[in-house]
Amino acid sequence: MKIKIINHSLIQHKLTLLRNKNTNAKDFREYLNEISRLLAFEVLRDIKLKQIEIETPIQKTKAKVLNEKINLFPILRAGQGMVEGFLGVVPNAKIGHIGLYRDEKTFKAKKYLFKFPKDAKEESLNIILDPMIATGGSAIEAIKFLKKENIKNIKFVSIVTVEEAINKINQKFPDVELITCAVDQKLNQKGYIIPGLGDAGDRIYGTK
Ligand code: PRP
Ligand code: URA
Repeated sequence: MKIKIINHSLIQHKLTLLRNKNTNAKDFREYLNEISRLLAFEVLRDIKLKQIEIETPIQKTKAKVLNEKINLFPILRAGQGMVEGFLGVVPNAKIGHIGLYRDEKTFKAKKYLFKFPKDAKEESLNIILDPMIATGGSAIEAIKFLKKENIKNIKFVSIVTVEEAINKINQKFPDVELITCAVDQKLNQKGYIIPGLGDAGDRIYGTK
């Protein structure tokens, strides 16, 4: 199992608030946004830099600035809830959208949209966002779309997942870095993560 687990105390605290079934949609969105911003800070820790020359009030000096294009790929709907947090840290990132929903009976991911910024085909860092990786079907489809378009340097950032899904993704795409906040026990018969946090899309948008 190859995965980076971000177990920062602040993130774990906010994740507990997300998991709690008494958290309403408004608060759920806010906590997800806060976690995403904290995650972005970790995920972008080693983003490429270049040196430029600037002048401080005292003298000329060389200093570092960001030197990597960043594209965010939220998987709709739930991944959209992580975009604002990332943009809080890298406001110039471009956004591609991956529209997928999971068939409730077969758990197979069905595509309804794929639109990406053209920068993604150039040298760039491409971050797929989805709070939940359960069977791994949606994550695998999303990575496949990017790879089919020759989009490289892919990271996948989630909030909760399970070991089984990580192993599946690692096996298919060993070059894709997976980042999460928690690896839960397993899936129930309906394909939901146990204990998980329920249906992330429904909780964000109040649709159930
Ligand atoms: C959820 C979640 C993931 C997917 C994970 O989305 O946001 O995309 O399920 O499940 P998997 O790993 O078994 O594929 P869902 O399909 O419910 O769509 P929604 O975000 O529109 O509710
Ligand atoms: N999708 C979700 O939103 N939650 C789960 O637990 C599994 C799939």
